Amino acid sequence: MKNISAVYPGSFDPPTNGHIDIIKRAAKIFSEVVVAVTHNCNKHHMFSLEERVDMMSRSVSEIKIVKVSSFSGLLVDYLDKTESFCIVRGLRALSDFEYEFQMALMNRKLKRDVETIFLVPDQEYTFLSSSTVREIASLGGDFKNFVPAPVYEKIIKIKGK
Ligand code: PNS
Repeated sequence: MKNISAVYPGSFDPPTNGHIDIIKRAAKIFSEVVVAVTHNCNKHHMFSLEERVDMMSRSVSEIKIVKVSSFSGLLVDYLDKTESFCIVRGLRALSDFEYEFQMALMNRKLKRDVETIFLVPDQEYTFLSSSTVREIASLGGDFKNFVPAPVYEKIIKIKGK
């Protein structure tokens, strides 16, 4: 395997165990994985960028070769800055495919040599998404098994206020 660095972009609002599963898989393949937290202009975020970076950093602190960062603007411009050409995205189900396929092709139109690598999480995360976690948490349900401990603690702290 070549010495390739990959960028795993997302809004991570909040990070879930499904995201961590993808990061661990990517860390087995690439020489460096940059988890790049950003704003998704199609979504209204519950947590600020700083909070999402902080939750993600705490959640992956023990995984070597993983760095957490943030960016604004186009992903392809961020790739230029990090001198990477490889994007990692998770595919949970067929329902993710259309959006991911469109994004992969558009990123390639914007920057010709960009490659998107899709990784499939463990099937126990097929049903899991940040939006489900936000909904369960806001309705008082038990979401402890769906998120890394630092994320759970952060949400519990907020709810207690
Ligand atoms: O976790 P998400 O919200 O599904 O991630 C989507 C994200 C943030 C990767 C996507 O919206 C993105 O790349 N945003 C940066 C702006 C950009 O480059 N948009 C064009 C994508 S084709």
